[in-house]
Amino acid sequence: MLRRSFRKPYPVAVRGEGVYVWDADGNRYLDFSGSAAVNFIGHGVREIAGAMAEQARQLEFVHTSQFTTPVAEEFAQELLDFAGEHFRGGAVYFTCGGSESVETALKLARQYQVEIGQKNRHQILSRQQSYHGATLGALAVSGNRKRREIYLPMVREFEHTGVPYCYRCAFDCTDSCYHCGQQYAAVLEHSIEAAKGEAAGFIFEPMSGATLGAVTPPPGYLQAIAEICHRHGVLLIADEVMTGMGRTGRNFAVEHWGIAPDILITAKGLSSGYAPLGAVIASKKVVDAIAAGSGAFLHGFTYNAHPVSLAAGRAVLRRVRSVNLVHAADSEVAGTAGAALKIALESLRDLEAVGDVRGLGLLCGIEFVADKKTKAPFPPEKNFAGRVGQACLRRGLLVYPMQGCVDGVAGDHLLIAPPAVITPEEIGWAVEQIRAAVKESI
Ligand SMILES: Cc1ncc(COP(=O)(O)O)c(C=O)c1O
Repeated sequence: MLRRSFRKPYPVAVRGEGVYVWDADGNRYLDFSGSAAVNFIGHGVREIAGAMAEQARQLEFVHTSQFTTPVAEEFAQELLDFAGEHFRGGAVYFTCGGSESVETALKLARQYQVEIGQKNRHQILSRQQSYHGATLGALAVSGNRKRREIYLPMVREFEHTGVPYCYRCAFDCTDSCYHCGQQYAAVLEHSIEAAKGEAAGFIFEPMSGATLGAVTPPPGYLQAIAEICHRHGVLLIADEVMTGMGRTGRNFAVEHWGIAPDILITAKGLSSGYAPLGAVIASKKVVDAIAAGSGAFLHGFTYNAHPVSLAAGRAVLRRVRSVNLVHAADSEVAGTAGAALKIALESLRDLEAVGDVRGLGLLCGIEFVADKKTKAPFPPEKNFAGRVGQACLRRGLLVYPMQGCVDGVAGDHLLIAPPAVITPEEIGWAVEQIRAAVKESI
């Protein structure tokens, strides 16, 4: 096993149930980050395992160049319905995860432009301080400095524009960052113009995930971006690998801002971790261009639309609907898990080291600072978020620590993304552990 680190010991996980995971020594961990914002329905849901086993018994695999399957056709339709009216008449391409889905979306955007006669359009614009995956194409459009740095000589890059980050607003806005959102959108427009007719698409996370830690966009920003892309014939690609499938209290996060992307990417919560699964949901405009043009999408993985993964995804979506988990994640509705999480995390603001608490639904971030007044970050070598993460782990709590939110290197935050079945008592206990862990780590 080539592990993520040769220096760090890893507990051996053997069982999961609800919001808990157990290791081989019998230690119990509350999964307050859904691993990495993956688990949404809770661990150990037996009906998911049952659906997967049934599919494997019936038909484990066929290749998409030879067959389609009932599970693929039915789940694609269910997912289009879940994505809403804007995707009516569209189509879904299934993959094994987020990075594969991003690769697929980038190629789909390029092929769309070729099909409609815009053969010069091949650039994919993206944002700094973003993460779109580990493969080289996805890394090229990502802006996460640490995850990209050593691979940069290997990637082909296009323009990255800035991300509005209200806690550290570069414009000193006094209007909830409406002004700076418009400025960032204007920079995107300049980048599109500077690409001289070569921009094929623009990829963005509606809410920043791991890199900035649940930063929400300011009012008007995403609407301005969508309008600019539309006006310039640039496909709008929303990466909802982390924010999709209910996590923010809407089926997809773009619904908070009323924008309609041409291509929507999702993974993580799509299978809630029960199987490797991702999806690219393409709008009718994109699908029709290929169907009426060359007639074939020039792309494929051996394991795309794997029947057992799709059986898992279908059963997960059924579960999300039957126990109303999108509603549970909605932090704007009193009494939900989302609302309880928001209230509990806000209580951490009294800690000296907590600079900001942010997020929507069950995707939240806690940013740490060395000095609350100046917002100065801790020295990166202190690895403050990592220390808090380790202290949480010793207390039986799983969180997602990250560094680099300030400038790609400095800045510490925790990402919090529990399963939607978490109770207010479990949230209360978890937040107390974070409070203690922060104090221990100073
Ligand atoms: C927004 C976003 N896009 C893409 C990815 C890559 O997904 P995966 O790790 O499943 O390949 C991630 C992973 O964290 C993500 O957060």
